[in-house]
Amino acid sequence: MLDVQTALATPVVHRRDAYRPPEWLVPAVSLDFALDPAATRVRARMEVARNAAAGPLRLDGAGQRPLAVLVDGVATDDWRMEGDGLVIPLPGDAHVVETEVEIAPDRNTQLMGLYASGGNLCTQCEAEGFRRITFFPDRPDVLSVYRVRMTAEATRFPILLANGDPVAQGTLDGGRHWAEWHDPFPKPSYLFALVAGDLAANRDSFTTASGREVALAIWVREADLPRTVHALDALKLAMAWDERVYGREYDLDVFNIVAVDDFNFGAMENKGLNIFNSRYILADPDTATDYDYDAIAAVVAHEYFHNWSGDRITCRDWFQLSLKEGFTVYRDQGFSADQGSAAVKRIEDVRGLRAAQFPEDAGPLAHPVRPDSYQEISNFYTATIYNKGAELIRMMAAILGPPGFRAGTDLYFDRHDGQAATCEQFVACMEQAGGVDLDRFRRWYGQAGTPRVSVAVEHREADASAIVRLAQRTLPTPGQPDKLPLVLPLRMKLFGAGTGAALTDERLVLFEESTAEIAFAGVTERPVLSINRGFSAPVIIESDRSAADLAFLSAHDDDPFARYEAMQQLMLDTLVAGAVEGRADHGAVIEAVANTLADMGSQGGGLDPAFVAEAVLLPSESFVGDQIATVDPEAIFRAREALRRDIGRRLDARWRAACTPSDAAYAYTPEGKGTRRLRSVALGYLAASGAPDAAAIAFRQFEGADNMTDRQGALSVLAAGTSELREAALDIFYNRHADNALVLDKWFQTQALSPRDDTGDQVRALSEHPDFTLANPNRARSLVGAFGVNQRAFNAPDGAGYRFLADQLIALDRLNPQTAAKLLPPLARWRRFDEGRAALMRGELERIAGTPGLSKDVFEQASKSLEG
Ligand code: TRP
Ligand code: ZN
Repeated sequence: MLDVQTALATPVVHRRDAYRPPEWLVPAVSLDFALDPAATRVRARMEVARNAAAGPLRLDGAGQRPLAVLVDGVATDDWRMEGDGLVIPLPGDAHVVETEVEIAPDRNTQLMGLYASGGNLCTQCEAEGFRRITFFPDRPDVLSVYRVRMTAEATRFPILLANGDPVAQGTLDGGRHWAEWHDPFPKPSYLFALVAGDLAANRDSFTTASGREVALAIWVREADLPRTVHALDALKLAMAWDERVYGREYDLDVFNIVAVDDFNFGAMENKGLNIFNSRYILADPDTATDYDYDAIAAVVAHEYFHNWSGDRITCRDWFQLSLKEGFTVYRDQGFSADQGSAAVKRIEDVRGLRAAQFPEDAGPLAHPVRPDSYQEISNFYTATIYNKGAELIRMMAAILGPPGFRAGTDLYFDRHDGQAATCEQFVACMEQAGGVDLDRFRRWYGQAGTPRVSVAVEHREADASAIVRLAQRTLPTPGQPDKLPLVLPLRMKLFGAGTGAALTDERLVLFEESTAEIAFAGVTERPVLSINRGFSAPVIIESDRSAADLAFLSAHDDDPFARYEAMQQLMLDTLVAGAVEGRADHGAVIEAVANTLADMGSQGGGLDPAFVAEAVLLPSESFVGDQIATVDPEAIFRAREALRRDIGRRLDARWRAACTPSDAAYAYTPEGKGTRRLRSVALGYLAASGAPDAAAIAFRQFEGADNMTDRQGALSVLAAGTSELREAALDIFYNRHADNALVLDKWFQTQALSPRDDTGDQVRALSEHPDFTLANPNRARSLVGAFGVNQRAFNAPDGAGYRFLADQLIALDRLNPQTAAKLLPPLARWRRFDEGRAALMRGELERIAGTPGLSKDVFEQASKSLEG
């Protein structure tokens, strides 16, 4: 007999190769909601049709029991519960099944299903939240036409929204009213949405290329209306962009967006009714940074683009998640690149990939872009699925070229419209329309880990040629000890070390064996290799290029991304040397930074300030750690601070010039953004230099700023320091913005990211602050999530950081398992640290895994982290 302990601890593992088509389909469903925060009645009327098997109808649920079951209009008690599921034997091939349940949105702290936020009611169904609302085959390959009727108290919930188009509304006795919505597009249950609340709309309209007039609305609290302008502008730009670049038009008469304060993720692409975390909607110059503005436009575009890559064509099963997410991230990256500097956008995206995805791919939670198994699907909304998935699309686009790629997406949208599709079907469309063989490319979908490419260049003066020797290998990942070579599209070019001239045109090399030799002719002087230009493949390049060659490329490469890369590699080599050997020569980095600053264009030519700001920024402490066998957080921190101090001192005059406040009033333009970005970077260097007046200059910027970007930039610098102006600035900031939750998040986050020695203590104290709560995911992430990525503070040698994170995670798990599980990855890095730290981290992981009543979300992450 299985003992209880084992039975509980044995997780159900879902496997990709176990896919079976649905036994029953549900072509149409009508939902009737009697909305009430404490007790909402949900009646579902499903037209069901036998599809693949002879068995009974099985409906997913989550803890409820049906109050009634009717088959073809007749009440029946011929049903049973199997676990959380409702099983109803049905004699024929087509029936009408009705159920009724009662749910309590105001007690829903998981924020999945129907829940209350800020007095309103809203839903989140992806991935498996719909089963918390009503019994249903809650899987993405069951597509239904939805009709939704809602009744609610009219004064508390004057606005009633659902997917699709509004059909009718009216008033009822007893102060209640009703509304009915109909969505003509068949969709899976994870795209269902409703919102009921006291909301006001910023309205606009958009006319599609074929002349459809779409009524747009962004719904928020009345007081927040002025802060919806940027999101609405972004939405219109995204709609036009998708028509122009992908030939995709919107397909309903209305498009609604609702912003809510309590949300597990960024936003959700429910058909015709996107629901957003308010941080990705609300912005004005006084409360949102340029970074926030950019993120808002990217997420608004992302969710809008899902209308085609997600809603019209959805995923057959959750193993195919990257089909919609990787592709949609690629699409939103393209949109953002077209709004400003494409090079800066690429730099930001690669920085993000290296910060989140590379470590994931190198640790115990590594998984392929198309995973083979999962315990809890919510754990697979990862940087690998999203961002590496986008890189796979980018590589196919590079292989096919722009016309071929567009033909491929046209074929995909045409062939699979209305279907639940697979990654394989996407690749097959690319292959057919592009006329290329992607057979070996497909390995990218199944193989985890970041390939490492070693590069050596041989110059043959005798025949003026050069040979580039490439070798690739991917280290083992959990469950995948043996790796195959992957197809790597590598853009490369050679420059003359003496003249700086381009010796060759850029070449796109498809490197797909373990090793390769690439020959270049006409190499009349010693060449310097520029490789993986534009980050054409998501790999780690290991080359023996000298500091001098990297400095040369950082000044002469004609691809801005490659200039940035050369500079980063130079800085990285210097920081690694500093951390490992305790000292390093800073000369080459300082000179490269000086040259980059000098190349900044005043008018017209030259480098733009946004690019310069990115290029002169040192790699993060964790990225330096990723290059070293055993991470020594203190040594890395000291090496980085030493380099920052030297760069600060040696270029003091330039930093002072760059952080001089400008007379120009705030404007959210590429130039304005670039200048502000550089101003805060410069302020950081000035402070790092130890200049006695740095804090005063930062405080002046803090007080004088007419926008949040400058204010928060200065606050971060002050919060990192020890001046008495630090407390003053934190207090002023807090008091000024105490009524704005999104700005208070910044206040918590800035302190959690501080490099000060006492950050651990400060963060623990902040967790007792009256404004701190784990119930709001944004707030939990702004303190605990941010602390987890503060490498030095989190990895304090006594393990206090680990204990704090584990305590918070365990507490949050009781409320919101999904968000709790996302806090865990910093502890999963234990193998990267010395024995002392590793043991402390493992101890916390074991404590987490052994917590009674733990969610399967956290259990999966903790147990995999211990094993891997
Ligand atoms: N599909 C959403 C996106 O655009 C992701 C998402 C929103 C999500 N809410 C969620 C994922 C809740 C898991 C759980 O990326
Ligand atoms: Zn998405």
